[in-house]
Amino acid sequence: DGLSGEELFSNRNGYTYSDYIILPGSISFDACDVSVQTHATKKISINTPFISSPMDTVTEHQMAIHMALFGGLGIIHCNNTIEEQCDEVMRVKRYENGFILDPFTVGPEATLSQLDEIKRNFGFSGCPVTETGKLGGRLIGIVTTRDHDFIKDRTVKVKEVMTTELTVAKEGCSLEEANQILRDSKRGKLPVVNENYELVAAISRKDLRKNRDFPLASKDVHKRLLVGAAIHTRPNDRIRVAKLVEAGADIIVIDSSQGDSTFQKEMIHYIKENHPSVEVVGGNVVCVQQAKHLISWGVDGLRIGMGSGSICTTQEVMAVGRPQATAVYHVCKYARKHGVPCWADGGISNIGKINKALAAGASCVMMGSLLAGTEEAPGEYFYKDGVRLKRYRGMGSIDAMDKNSADRYFSQESVIRVAQGVSGAVVDKGSLKRFLPYLYTGLKHSLQDMGCKNLDVLWEKLYSGALRFELRTPASQMEGGIHDLHSYSRKEFN
Ligand code: XMP
Repeated sequence: DGLSGEELFSNRNGYTYSDYIILPGSISFDACDVSVQTHATKKISINTPFISSPMDTVTEHQMAIHMALFGGLGIIHCNNTIEEQCDEVMRVKRYENGFILDPFTVGPEATLSQLDEIKRNFGFSGCPVTETGKLGGRLIGIVTTRDHDFIKDRTVKVKEVMTTELTVAKEGCSLEEANQILRDSKRGKLPVVNENYELVAAISRKDLRKNRDFPLASKDVHKRLLVGAAIHTRPNDRIRVAKLVEAGADIIVIDSSQGDSTFQKEMIHYIKENHPSVEVVGGNVVCVQQAKHLISWGVDGLRIGMGSGSICTTQEVMAVGRPQATAVYHVCKYARKHGVPCWADGGISNIGKINKALAAGASCVMMGSLLAGTEEAPGEYFYKDGVRLKRYRGMGSIDAMDKNSADRYFSQESVIRVAQGVSGAVVDKGSLKRFLPYLYTGLKHSLQDMGCKNLDVLWEKLYSGALRFELRTPASQMEGGIHDLHSYSRKEFN
């Protein structure tokens, strides 16, 4: 039944994920026995094929830390200064499971009603108090619910109720030592300070209780989390690369909407000659010809996608690009022969699309919108029409270009901006702590349905023609979605 990958993707049309379906295989194993281990680059292997996009509404240190803890990777965006980006990279490399690196902090002049608001919005009942009211300020106290829960007047200031007899841990101590101090102190939260008594982190009793192991975590040889960082191709970016490598970045991703350029060639050569220890991912590409060039210039990984992202307008505005699944299939088939892993970048909106990208040959998927609504993405939540949202914007949107990212689109000299992306918002997805295990488990079930115990088996079937695909008509796509249900409001149901 059905078509082989070659038959499907080599006919005259360009296809994207919704255009096809994969036919089932036969199952002889449990879903929990499926492995989704893969290669992110020639040298780096990871346990889950999930990578977060280098976008300023997606990947900073919190995102990258959680992506790596759950077996994937985060690529820190470069819409910032070199110092800011290096700081984000260092926070990932310095991360130790259990330390809260940005504890909610208040100043002595804050009122009890402000504490109530923090509790209501974020659920924290204990806050370190610093002179400045910020992380990095001198620690002067700690305030917990127990200090003020019977005080009626909520205009009372924190300095009047806070505890000033402090038990602290010193920066540099191990999590085990800090946990011991916390246990002995019988407190709810333990501030961590540096030699000047400035607040640098905290650990909480709640976390201690639910402290979890991360068996899939992506780690370097020194057991630090792996992290990538994006750059552009301006001459100044050579300095950025040097600083990022010094900060500990494991992978440099050259972020460009069209990777087949002399700028990229020169940058790849520069990195390979001057920083041979770091892995270089080039892109973006959608055609074999582009991939051929980048591979011959020496990349360790390729990013595939032009205009396929949820916020992208490149295909419409520039009329250049390619439907994503066809791009993924052809580039991956070529790159595999050269041992270069590929990331299917853009248009991944659910587990099914992750599976379809991998089944078309991708080693990893890169996601923006799917992750931008999680707690760990940069930015605060806001409400619109009763829905909890977070901002998400294309790096080619006017908003983002105004900051820096115009270089992704070769327009640094230009005064007139032509947007290739838009700004919008995405729905709250909760924490990556639940969302990534959900994606991971779902993906293992998809592989089980195809009768593949791991990704190598999947790709073997793909290239031998044993994996069968079928095109979907618009009616069949409707059949595959939710249909024939009467809609009701939750209120009616409850
Ligand atoms: P998703 O679909 O996951 O896509 O939200 C994320 C990917 O989209 C790319 N990107 C852009 N492409 N205009 C574009 O044409 C833009 O403004 C833009 N910003 C991001 C990028 O490859 C990202 O990983």
